[in-house]
Amino acid sequence: MKRIASSYTLPSGAVLINRIAKSAMSENCGTYSNAPTKTLINAYAVWAKGNPGLLITGNIMVDSKALGEPRNVVVEDYTHFEQLKQWAKTVEGTGVHLWPQLNHPGRQAFASINKKIVAPSAVPLKMGGASKMFRTATPLAEDEIWDIIKRFGNAARILKEAGFTGCQIHGAHGYLVSQFLSPISNTRDDQWGGPLENRARFVLEVYREIRKQVGPDYPVGIKINSADFQRGGFTEEESMEVVQILSREGIDLIEISGGTYEKPAMVKGSRKQSTIEREAYFLDYIEKARKITDKPLLLTGGFRSVKVMEEALAGGKLDIIGLARPFCLYPNLAQDIFDEKETRFEAPTPTIGIDFLDKMGGVELPWYELQIQLLGKGKQPRPNLGGIWAFLFSLRGMFFKSFIKN
Ligand SMILES: Cc1cc2nc3c(=O)[nH]c(=O)nc-3n(C[C@H](O)[C@H](O)[C@H](O)COP(=O)(O)O)c2cc1C
Repeated sequence: MKRIASSYTLPSGAVLINRIAKSAMSENCGTYSNAPTKTLINAYAVWAKGNPGLLITGNIMVDSKALGEPRNVVVEDYTHFEQLKQWAKTVEGTGVHLWPQLNHPGRQAFASINKKIVAPSAVPLKMGGASKMFRTATPLAEDEIWDIIKRFGNAARILKEAGFTGCQIHGAHGYLVSQFLSPISNTRDDQWGGPLENRARFVLEVYREIRKQVGPDYPVGIKINSADFQRGGFTEEESMEVVQILSREGIDLIEISGGTYEKPAMVKGSRKQSTIEREAYFLDYIEKARKITDKPLLLTGGFRSVKVMEEALAGGKLDIIGLARPFCLYPNLAQDIFDEKETRFEAPTPTIGIDFLDKMGGVELPWYELQIQLLGKGKQPRPNLGGIWAFLFSLRGMFFKSFIKN
């Protein structure tokens, strides 16, 4: 049997039936009042049939006043509890784990869909022409920080009650948790800023609050940046320290990624051709991380061929293989690997020729979101779909939500 098909037991005792995880992909497929839709729930039913060990949802927001995208799902109370239960039911009886990814966008929140934008500090995003879509954030007050920490815990508990089998903190890609970690976006001089010990306080308190609310035997993981790849930003060494801090606290699964909106290293648009060909963007980092933590490691970004996945697992550098974009075009991906039907899973990069949009994923992300929505509607993915349709689709969502923003 291939190693990738073997089961894996997490420190909490939860068993993943194999080593394949669908990493979080924002589906942007909730209602405009931020409830899960039937289409969204169906997409997960489709993915669950493909038997991956773990399905991580697209980021679910913990505050309806802070959205990353117009149609994010928000969990801040029991308003959408029935829909959340139906969502969790998609994996019932399959052995597949379903974890929500919990997020707060902080300063990476579009001005058109958010009234007030908050972040650790008032540091504007530097994204060239795209910066206009954002607004400089208001620094969070002490009580607001604790409110958000509580929200992460509440959301995790509600989702556990709904039947989700674990959860993941989104600590990567330049969102709020990652903003606290980075000295570029966090210039505070109180207990939340300055030395790493202070910058890491937010993620630590978020983890502790979730753990308090879900109990000791429930899997809690994190997705964290190996670095934000910006001069003066969150470094690899600092990332390793945070991994150690969270390992001591008892985290169950550490997913490694990298990049921010300003430097989107998580998708290949901004990576060297040699790295793309080698696959596994953050492999060097994970090799180092393996030496400093005995907690399970999940690596996401660039995996396309079963051979590279198997080699990565065989070397013991990591425990779980994370894939995102390939899951949109090959929903049966895990089962296809076990049945030896496919050996490679291509995931194209659609563009429209407007450089700043193409580079920041302004076309690629909605293109993959559209593929997820096709799955949820019972249709086949459309690898030849033009990038322009995806771009127009994302504009439409922004337009509608801007009319009904809080
Ligand atoms: C449409 C889309 C939405 C994404 N949304 C999220 C998200 O909500 N949370 C997250 O941690 N990463 C998100 N990502 C990043 C992926 O999880 C993953 O890190 C990245 O796509 C690289 O993996 P891949 O090469 O297997 O696609 C998203 C990626 C795409 C394409």
